[in-house]
Amino acid sequence: MVINGGKNQMTQQEQSVSVEERDYMKINIANMRIDTMVSFDLFSPGPKHKVPVLYRKGDLPFTSEARQRLVDNGMVNLLIRVEDAKAYKKYVEDHMGEILSDESLELDERCDLLYNTSTDIMQDMFKDPLRKGGLQRCQGVVSHTVRMIMTQKNALQSLMSLTSHDYYTYTHSVNVCVYAIALAKELFEENQYDFDMLGTAFMLHDIGKVNVDSSIITKPGKLTSEEWDIMRSHPLEGYKILNKMNFMNKEISTIVLQHHERHDGNGYPYNLKDEQIHIFGKICCIADVFDALTTKRSYREPSNSFGALKIMKDEMHQNFDPEFFARFVYLFGSG
Ligand SMILES: [Fe+2]
Repeated sequence: MVINGGKNQMTQQEQSVSVEERDYMKINIANMRIDTMVSFDLFSPGPKHKVPVLYRKGDLPFTSEARQRLVDNGMVNLLIRVEDAKAYKKYVEDHMGEILSDESLELDERCDLLYNTSTDIMQDMFKDPLRKGGLQRCQGVVSHTVRMIMTQKNALQSLMSLTSHDYYTYTHSVNVCVYAIALAKELFEENQYDFDMLGTAFMLHDIGKVNVDSSIITKPGKLTSEEWDIMRSHPLEGYKILNKMNFMNKEISTIVLQHHERHDGNGYPYNLKDEQIHIFGKICCIADVFDALTTKRSYREPSNSFGALKIMKDEMHQNFDPEFFARFVYLFGSG
């Protein structure tokens, strides 16, 4: 028995290892914060094919001395029980700010944790968007994502290398959030808008899909006209859900309601065109289409970034605000 959290559920360093009959999961020592209590036991790997050795009970704080001893012994990983994976993820989520600002960790490693935590949170959101605390978790991780993109030159590239190319509504939400924040940063000054609020709205742009049957969302081949009608209802359904969550204002409403509107007026739900579409609706639209093209669907293989931008330029340019699209393309060339 080996843990299987699905794609992107564990970071690269945290894949499970099976030792004799019990299963343990590797965690990076660097993610353990000094003087914090953990709610799970920590184990050190035992000799080959032997059961790991209990290193520290969960009710003891993780001290700087403890960490230093491990580092001095050349250890990078500890183990936790597979059944404690959820508690470990919560620990990481609770300490995300400290972990992300730890310069001793590689940027890719920090982005990996951020991306996986974001997809976990969105997976929970799509199970029950109105669950108590759900919006706050979402806002928390988006705030970290915004800081990361704003302050780390290569964060977008790092996050892009991690984005799932298999389609799940929750990974799509995180990917769109990342691309849309990056484009908004390219277009506006940080103090012009509340990027945390915008980022959360980008992350939740498709939340209305909780009210669309998954068989329609994942249907291979063409949708019937009835199915299309249901699919086209998701912006308005999302608007209603965000209202119920008390997360609503003018900008948020334009993101959720307008992300399928198209520059030439051929979008939905209101066939808005050109300047009738709000700037944040336009941004979300570009990020949404880009992620759709770079993600594997049942009816086609994913394009790489260059290929997706080429399709958007050659075959879909009428859908996008030309200036915004040009800036989006620039984003990928500017490194
Ligand atoms: Fe959508």
